[in-house]
Amino acid sequence: MITVFGSINVDLVCRVRKSPLPGETVLGSDYALIPGGKGANQALAARRAGAPVRMVGAIGDDDIGKAALNELIPAGVDLGAVARRSGTTGVAIITVDDSGENTIVVSPGANASANAGQIPAGSLGATDTLLLQLEVPQAEVFAAAQLARTGGARVVLSVAPFAPFTPEQLADIDIVVVNEHEAEDFARHFGLARGNAEVTVAALATRLGRIVIATLGPEGAVAAGGEGVIRVPALKVTPVDTTGAGDTFAGVLAAFLDEGRDLRDAMALAAIAGSLACTKHGAQPSFPSRAEIEAAAG
Ligand code: RIB
Repeated sequence: MITVFGSINVDLVCRVRKSPLPGETVLGSDYALIPGGKGANQALAARRAGAPVRMVGAIGDDDIGKAALNELIPAGVDLGAVARRSGTTGVAIITVDDSGENTIVVSPGANASANAGQIPAGSLGATDTLLLQLEVPQAEVFAAAQLARTGGARVVLSVAPFAPFTPEQLADIDIVVVNEHEAEDFARHFGLARGNAEVTVAALATRLGRIVIATLGPEGAVAAGGEGVIRVPALKVTPVDTTGAGDTFAGVLAAFLDEGRDLRDAMALAAIAGSLACTKHGAQPSFPSRAEIEAAAG
């Protein structure tokens, strides 16, 4: 089973021709309230790919919080370890421009109170996967990773929003997932030689001493640190909204690894799923089902 410990947000999304520069005001579309949050997104993506999934996190008792679980509930994600706190739910203020690119500001709300103690005892054993990101407190993320390490579970960390961790801090992580910008940030932080994606990711994997996967948008994804360098393609699509595409990749990757696929297969299917997620508006409503992923994989 997959346990996702992470954020649950409501995304307040406005489409704009061009996202505003500092000091600029632009007019946008009507806003939409869409369930989001990197944790919840990854949980839903894994569930739609066919995995049994437990979500661990927190929402507030405000009005907006009612929208936060609107996709997770019908999908059948186990929400028994989602706490409802007094106060605000996490909210992400998102602009999506005409090219499908976004800007995101996150107000953490109840996510700031999510803690590893909420993870049910005994749920992270040798046949389980723990999926983590960084919109909940870092100390709790690493406490969760330690629980998983003790239990023998696989641990996947999506380093988003980016934080320049040391190899020692990542001791309990098996697979680090970054996007191309986060890979560059990491490489710059360590003063690594940078070149094409393969070179950067290989250097990063060596420096961190673990498997690193970088998602590359329309160029697919690349991994290093396991059985050499693995490169998988994206699907050719016309993107309308890239929000949540990286979360889709991480969730689907975890789903296929959890059912026993090897890294190359899991990455290939995750890259296809990430591409499909760019073809519809919003994060969670755009995540593909397993049947859609398999049909696109041919
Ligand atoms: O990765 C996309 C997500 O980032 C959005 O759903 C938003 O909630 C922010 O967490």
